[in-house]
Amino acid sequence: MVTCGGPASARRGPALAQLEVLSGDPAVLLDGDRIAWVGARKDAPRASTTVEVQGVLFPGFVDCHTHGVFGAPRLDDHERRALGEDYQAIAAAGGGILQSVRDVRARPEDQLAALARERLTTLLWHGSTTIEVKSGYGLATDAELKQLRALQRAGRDVPATLIPTFLGAHEVPPEYRNRRAEYVRLVCEEMLPAVVGERLARACDVFCEPGVFDVAEARTILTAARRLGLDCKLHADELQGSGGAELAAELGARSADHLAAVSGAGIAALAASDTVAVVLPATMTFLGRPRQAPARRLVEAGAAVALATDFNPGSSPTISLPLVMALGVSQLGLRHAEAVLAVTVNAAAALGLAADRGQIAAGFRADLVALAVSDWREAAYWMGANLVTDVWTGGSACPSPSARVCLGFHVEA
Ligand code: NIG
Ligand code: FE
Repeated sequence: MVTCGGPASARRGPALAQLEVLSGDPAVLLDGDRIAWVGARKDAPRASTTVEVQGVLFPGFVDCHTHGVFGAPRLDDHERRALGEDYQAIAAAGGGILQSVRDVRARPEDQLAALARERLTTLLWHGSTTIEVKSGYGLATDAELKQLRALQRAGRDVPATLIPTFLGAHEVPPEYRNRRAEYVRLVCEEMLPAVVGERLARACDVFCEPGVFDVAEARTILTAARRLGLDCKLHADELQGSGGAELAAELGARSADHLAAVSGAGIAALAASDTVAVVLPATMTFLGRPRQAPARRLVEAGAAVALATDFNPGSSPTISLPLVMALGVSQLGLRHAEAVLAVTVNAAAALGLAADRGQIAAGFRADLVALAVSDWREAAYWMGANLVTDVWTGGSACPSPSARVCLGFHVEA
């Protein structure tokens, strides 16, 4: 049993490689939605029912960065990149994020909810019991609200905890191309109050990138979000560095995500802050870009590093956190123990939940995942295999879905 036991806060530096593992014959006692006790089975208190688990038990994984509400996959972008066009050129020509925006705007809420339900259930059955999901394919007040309401509806049927984030500043929509300042004002003065009024998000994120939103615009939007009580997150220094990591640290954001182009100053700023550095190796792999986030340097500088899928139709159609853990080891130079803490304790910290989940320890939420492996390190090794046999969330066994993986049949919008 991998407990990840220890402080209920992000792990950094050498502590990120210190993973608590109970071998021999461990047991965990659940009471309601909480973990009541952990230890050697011979010392376990009496329980009303007992379940035997073969393999290795982990705390439920936390996927702290996804864009899980969308319509069709973006197959043309995929092939255009294969033939040499890059992500930004495709986006500038009206593909990329804007293609998903046209799709989401045209699709009814119940269809978006149904697709999200199937896809997020698939993430759950790859071990993610808590999943952050961003809006950002609406880019208009009604369409952003529709995406977040669809997510709320999907959440009633998916036994994972879904944590909603408002990402109205994911791109400038075409109708505001020449009126950027007006779009920023719309996000701050109309979208944010509407989202907060309906309690549709816990956090606000901005895609801070040259050509998308600059540091000043991101600061304006996140400051407005914070004033309304939302947590802050930031897509920072993904493709080109622009000081996003420094801004996230300055604002006390929960996380700065991507970081493939982070500067030395950005690394130092994150290391000196409580902002979690979320790295997304599946994205750079899927985009076919040579440069990954400097995760090893971030760890060595003392930043709190987490891993996530970035599940989305454009840059990371990846449903598997264990695949991302394997990429974390192979592509980012993380140790196996670091990869495990990066999808449990540190990913929970990126959502402000490190005191509640990410560990198998008394008082924590009873979210557990069993993998069919003999050695815990195999969780980050069998690249692309789904090793999950059982999942519990809030103390209850999740009903196993039909055996097939279902990413949703996306009829045309
Ligand atoms: O995290 N960088 C911006 N957003 C996503 C991509 C979304 C898309 O291409 O649809 C990302 O990579
Ligand atoms: Fe993203």
